[in-house]
Amino acid sequence: MKKIILTGDRPTGKLHIGHYVGSLKERVRMQNEDEYEQFYVMVADAQALTDNYDNINKVRSNISEVALDYMAVGLDPQKVTMFIQSEIPELTEFTFYYMNLVTLARLQRNPTVKAEIKQKNFDNSIPVGFLCYPISQTSDITAFNANYVPVGEDQLPMLEQAREIVRTFNHLYKTDILVEPQAVIPSNKSCLRLPGIDGKAKMSKSLGNTIYLGDEPDVLREKIKMMYTDPNHIKVSDPGNIKGNVVFTYLDAFSNEEHFKKYLPDYANLDELKAHYKRGGLGDVKIKNFLFEVLNETLTPIREKRKVLEQDKEEIMHILFKGSDKARAVASEKLKKLKSAMGINYREV
Ligand code: TRP
Repeated sequence: MKKIILTGDRPTGKLHIGHYVGSLKERVRMQNEDEYEQFYVMVADAQALTDNYDNINKVRSNISEVALDYMAVGLDPQKVTMFIQSEIPELTEFTFYYMNLVTLARLQRNPTVKAEIKQKNFDNSIPVGFLCYPISQTSDITAFNANYVPVGEDQLPMLEQAREIVRTFNHLYKTDILVEPQAVIPSNKSCLRLPGIDGKAKMSKSLGNTIYLGDEPDVLREKIKMMYTDPNHIKVSDPGNIKGNVVFTYLDAFSNEEHFKKYLPDYANLDELKAHYKRGGLGDVKIKNFLFEVLNETLTPIREKRKVLEQDKEEIMHILFKGSDKARAVASEKLKKLKSAMGINYREV
C-alpha cells in the first residue's frame, strides 16, 4: 500500500530535544527515504486551543515557532506539506460525525487524556472540547488517508482510538473508505520518553526542565550543569548509579561511537563509560562535559538554521498558508466521500 504520512504538534511552545529524538528525527528519516506518496505535517492550533482557549496569543505566536523548528531540523517544505489545522474547517465536520461513534466512557479511559486531566486539575469540570480531542485527531489522520503517523510514544492511545473509529465507521456504513493508521515510533527505547533535566518523567515547558532546539551553547551548558545524576554519587571515587541518571539517559539517546572518538577517546563506547561510572572513579563533571559536546554537535546545525529562517517569519507563514490551501483541497474531497458513504450526499442523487 502506498505510504501516506501525517503528523503534527500543538503550538504551545518551541520544540525541545524530547520532540527531536521522540519523533522529529524519525520524520526527517522518513522524508529522506522518499518512500511515500504524500507527507503532511500539521501545526495543531485547534487542538492546542482545547486546553488553551483562554490564551489564544500563546497558540497564535507559537505557530511560526513550531514551523521554524520543523524546518530547522530538516523537514523540507518542498517535500512535506506543512499546514495549520484551523485553516481546514472540513476537519471539524469529520469530527462531528465521528463523535457519534465514541462513548464518553471510552474517552475517559484514554490514558494520555486521563493523565492530562489530572495534570491540568480539571477534576469534574472537564471541557467537552478537550475530552474530544482524540476524536478530532482521528479526523486529522483520516481526512488525508494517512496510514503512517510518526509521533511520540504518548500518542499511542490516540492512534488506538483512531483505529477504533475507522473500524466502527467502515463496519457501520458498510464501506472501506477509511484507512487504519499505524504509529511510527523510534526503535531506540531511551528516545521514547526523554525525561526532563530534573529527572522528572517528562520534558515539559510548564516544569521548566527542557532543553530547546534553539538553546545557545551557554544555556545548554548551564542546563547540563543543573542536570540530575545520582544524588549518592558524592565523591568521584564513589560507585555511581546509571538508572534514573539523566546524563546517561541522554547519552543513550544521543551519543554514538564517533562522539567517543572525537570527545572522549579514553572510552570506546557508552558501555565502557557506564562500567567505569558504576565501579567508581568517574566524576559527574567529566560525563557532563562529554554530554555537552554530544548535544552541542547535534544542536549546532539546527540552531544555526533556525537563526537564518527566523529572519523571515513572513515567509514561514506563507509556506504554511500555501500548504493549508493544498491540504484543504485534499480534506474537502475526502469529506465528500465520507458523506456519500454515510448517505448524507442529498444533492448528488
Ligand atoms: N496530539 C498531538 C500532540 O500532542 C498533535 C496532533 C494533532 C497530531 N493531530 C494530530 C499528531 C494528528 C499526529 C496526528 O502533539
